[in-house]
Amino acid sequence: MPIIAEFVTSATNPDQFPKDRLPEIAMAGRSNVGKSSLINKILAQSRLAHTSSTPGRTQTLNFFRIWPEGRDGKKGFYLVDMPGYGFAKASLSRRAQWAKFINEYLETRETLKGIVQLVDMRHPPQPLDLQMAEWLREVETPYLVVATKADKIAKTKVPQQLQAMAEQLQLPTEDMIAFSAQTGLGREELWRWILNTALDRK
Ligand code: GTP
Ligand code: MG
Repeated sequence: MPIIAEFVTSATNPDQFPKDRLPEIAMAGRSNVGKSSLINKILAQSRLAHTSSTPGRTQTLNFFRIWPEGRDGKKGFYLVDMPGYGFAKASLSRRAQWAKFINEYLETRETLKGIVQLVDMRHPPQPLDLQMAEWLREVETPYLVVATKADKIAKTKVPQQLQAMAEQLQLPTEDMIAFSAQTGLGREELWRWILNTALDRK
């Protein structure tokens, strides 16, 4: 049965969030880390979420409704593409406004069942990555940290880099996976985590 994925809405304030109470899994991470590309890759759709080589592409909370068992299946959920944090070109006041909107979403959204934090595998975690990871350690919401752009480093270095990043983020290595939107590395494991978390399977 093919997965069905459809864009539902772009939200700039909470009134615009979907009201059907389906579970949600959100993608968080720095601008340009590959959140939108990851959504396209796991859904095997090249242009569902808009991507760009210029940071700051995604500026709204974008909700994609997923029917993993096709349209007849009962179990639907949302993948939520978020604007990146640390977008240097935005003005300070705009960044503050965004941080407030996003933090509120992450902290209060009742239907939010899981958070995927993306970090760039090529670089050490940045201050905002460390802050996000620290926050994830403290909240009850299940999370997974995805180290992206794994295709940009030597294959043999992937496990040790993942280990090093887990240490820097002070997270268990089990909470991290390596991913590439280019090669599909990590796609299966990530999809399994998303399904299990969204649909409350063990
Ligand atoms: P914002 O919407 O600005 O927050 O960015 P984003 O996190 O959604 O990043 P996006 O998916 O738009 O990707 C940014 C750039 O990185 C694009 O040029 C992508 O093609 C590239 N990219 C994303 N994931 C990967 C990956 O796994 N490997 C490689 N090589 N490039 C990637
Ligand atoms: Mg994006």
